[in-house]
Amino acid sequence: MAEETLTKPANLLPRLRRGLADSVGEALEVVLRLAEEEGRTLYLVGGGVRDVVLRRGHVDIDLVGEGPMASLAEKAALVLGGRWVEHRAFGTVTVEGQDFRLDLAMARAEKYARPGALPKVRPASIDEDLDRRDFTINAMALALCGRERGRLLDRFDGMGDIAGGRVRVLHDRSFIDDATRILRAVRYETRFGFGIEEKTLALLKRDLAYLDTISGARVRHEFLRLLAEDEPEQSLLRCQELGVLAAIHGALRFDDELAAAFRRTRRAGRAAPQPEVHLALLGTRLSPADAEAVALRLALSKRQRQALEGAAALAELVSWLSRADARPSQVVERLESYPLAAVEACGLLAQQSTAKRMLRRYLGKWRYVKTSLDGRALARLGVARGPAMKDVLRLLKAARLDGQASSREEEMKLVRGVLEGTVELPRTGGGEG
Ligand code: CTP
Repeated sequence: MAEETLTKPANLLPRLRRGLADSVGEALEVVLRLAEEEGRTLYLVGGGVRDVVLRRGHVDIDLVGEGPMASLAEKAALVLGGRWVEHRAFGTVTVEGQDFRLDLAMARAEKYARPGALPKVRPASIDEDLDRRDFTINAMALALCGRERGRLLDRFDGMGDIAGGRVRVLHDRSFIDDATRILRAVRYETRFGFGIEEKTLALLKRDLAYLDTISGARVRHEFLRLLAEDEPEQSLLRCQELGVLAAIHGALRFDDELAAAFRRTRRAGRAAPQPEVHLALLGTRLSPADAEAVALRLALSKRQRQALEGAAALAELVSWLSRADARPSQVVERLESYPLAAVEACGLLAQQSTAKRMLRRYLGKWRYVKTSLDGRALARLGVARGPAMKDVLRLLKAARLDGQASSREEEMKLVRGVLEGTVELPRTGGGEG
């Protein structure tokens, strides 16, 4: 890291202020003034300090002070015409208005009764609050008001690690206490172009098995945060290399081909939401049974699970899609029952040009094809409502897709043919193939 990012603490306050939207900066001033009136010091902590040092645009305002925060938040909300919400279980309060949000927390110490458990917390000093944190780069505090204003608390040389580009834990039990930090370490490494410091890396590898102590919801939360980064494929390749994916679930894996597909997802024109496409891409490497197990391990939401499992099931269909003689209507009938994210993932990965073309045409065109005649029009022509009508609609859609009908008139001609018995209806239950 270049020398100039090493920053004198005195420069951090003005830089913080410059990095904030006016509405947030003004709300912060009010909170700080009220805190000062109470004779208290508030600190910017965690990722906020790190991001000011690194001059990263948007800074989350996480404030910590010693003692309860509720009365301060209440006063601030009153002055600012905003609202305040207390999250008692976490000892935190949020003050928010239309265009600002500030999180205030009471400084606390944490004790882990057992690995992976949510920690027992007690009120503590700001120093102890820093001691409980994950990495040195996230364990700094910048005093924003009071006598200490402008002072940087940096008990673990976070500044040195930022300058040296290192992700380093504070103590040897960090990953045991909270194995989600394994995913966090990799995420920061990629995001900042840092390296996991040598001893930390050894601890990370030693403690991989502790991922088993983490609930599905917590692993999912950190996993999805990793996927939401700018270049998640870098983190996933690293996770693969370090054995992190296998520690989450034995069948989960990542490779260069998936990495290339991840990069392709960033080009314009995606049909499904990015996290679902990412999960679907991971799903293409899993058997249907493993996909189900991974979805369970990560406690995925219904849509996320469908994307992952759908892609696992669809992978088997891809070789069928490379048959040059598959008709568009057959392709649509088969693909329609799969989540869009799964189809998209297979399209991003398909090597074989026919399959690739089929998947792209399905996504870009065929899935939008509609018939001109609807149920009411068919009823007027004398088609009975019920299964027969469904079959006629399928026939018309297939005709549209396969180029046998391109106008309302041609559809009507087909319907007349069905009614007269000269056109055969497709058998219910999908096309042959
Ligand atoms: N933290 C921790 N251990 C965790 C999660 C969080 O010690 N398992 C601490 C870190 O000091 C972190 C702070 O809590 O900086 C806030 O957590 P989070 O919001 O997850 O991190 P940020 O650094 O604010 O956000 P990001 O990771 O996206 O930059």
